[in-house]
Amino acid sequence: MSFSGKVAIVTGASSGIGKCVAELYAKEGAAVILSDINEASGEKTAEQIRLAGGKACFIPADLSESSACRRMVEAALEKFGRLDYACNNAGIGGENNPTADYSLEGWQQIIAINLSGVFYCMKYEIPAMLQTGGGAIVNMASVLGQVGIAGAPGYVAAKHGVVGLTKNAAIEYAAHNIRINAVAPAFISSTRMTDKLEGNPKVQNFLSSLHPMKRLGKPEEVAGLVIWLSSEKASFVTGACLPVDGGYLAR
Ligand SMILES: NC(=O)c1ccc[n+]([C@@H]2O[C@H](COP(=O)([O-])OP(=O)(O)OC[C@H]3O[C@@H](n4cnc5c(N)ncnc54)[C@H](O)[C@@H]3O)[C@@H](O)[C@H]2O)c1
Repeated sequence: MSFSGKVAIVTGASSGIGKCVAELYAKEGAAVILSDINEASGEKTAEQIRLAGGKACFIPADLSESSACRRMVEAALEKFGRLDYACNNAGIGGENNPTADYSLEGWQQIIAINLSGVFYCMKYEIPAMLQTGGGAIVNMASVLGQVGIAGAPGYVAAKHGVVGLTKNAAIEYAAHNIRINAVAPAFISSTRMTDKLEGNPKVQNFLSSLHPMKRLGKPEEVAGLVIWLSSEKASFVTGACLPVDGGYLAR
């Protein structure tokens, strides 16, 4: 599965799943552009990849702004000359309120980051990939892009939107050698998003109980699927949203 000579962008690469995806792309031999709003951790991860002999560069970007997404892709082309893979992973958990109590600001923020951010990224990544004959995009959805959960209307709507955007773009670019898929993790441990929940043993037991495997997933279990979807091993897979969820969606 060598990605030698290839270039990958990973958004939300400063922590959790995105950090793990960036490290795995680099391990497979790709040059990696890590992007995030959290500059300190992103720079540190890029430095660690370089120290391990890989190629990596951190580009700060707030992906809720289309111009930042455009600049991120331009920077990748300037730095490494091409773009082959993108994992559009940046996201937030947002408010925990039922629909009638969800704030307007909270709604706008989560749609801007978790949904519009993915659209902006693909809008600029696709033309860059077309320049060199194709590529593969993996968007980070969630099991909550397939089913609802009380108290997270913004997150659930945004992730359902990511699945729809993925299918649509996949159809549009299937004949242009760009495969576009999504992955749908259930609850994943060791990320900023779940760290606060996991601090409480009662909550941790409850979260584990939602998964038939009775545990949360690990970032590397999601990253492995992203790498496989990016690789030639997935050469006939496009427009899919693949769960990595310990059986969550099978209940
Ligand atoms: N952890 C889970 O249980 C879980 C489950 C399903 C899906 N996901 C999805 O996985 C993705 C990664 O989340 P994670 O769990 O690794 O959490 P995380 O909080 O550790 O990582 C998210 C990253 O996105 C970055 N980010 C947030 N807003 C941004 C913005 N406007 N511009 C650029 N970067 C921004 C954060 O700084 C952070 O580094 C998210 O899209 C999340 O919705 C997570």
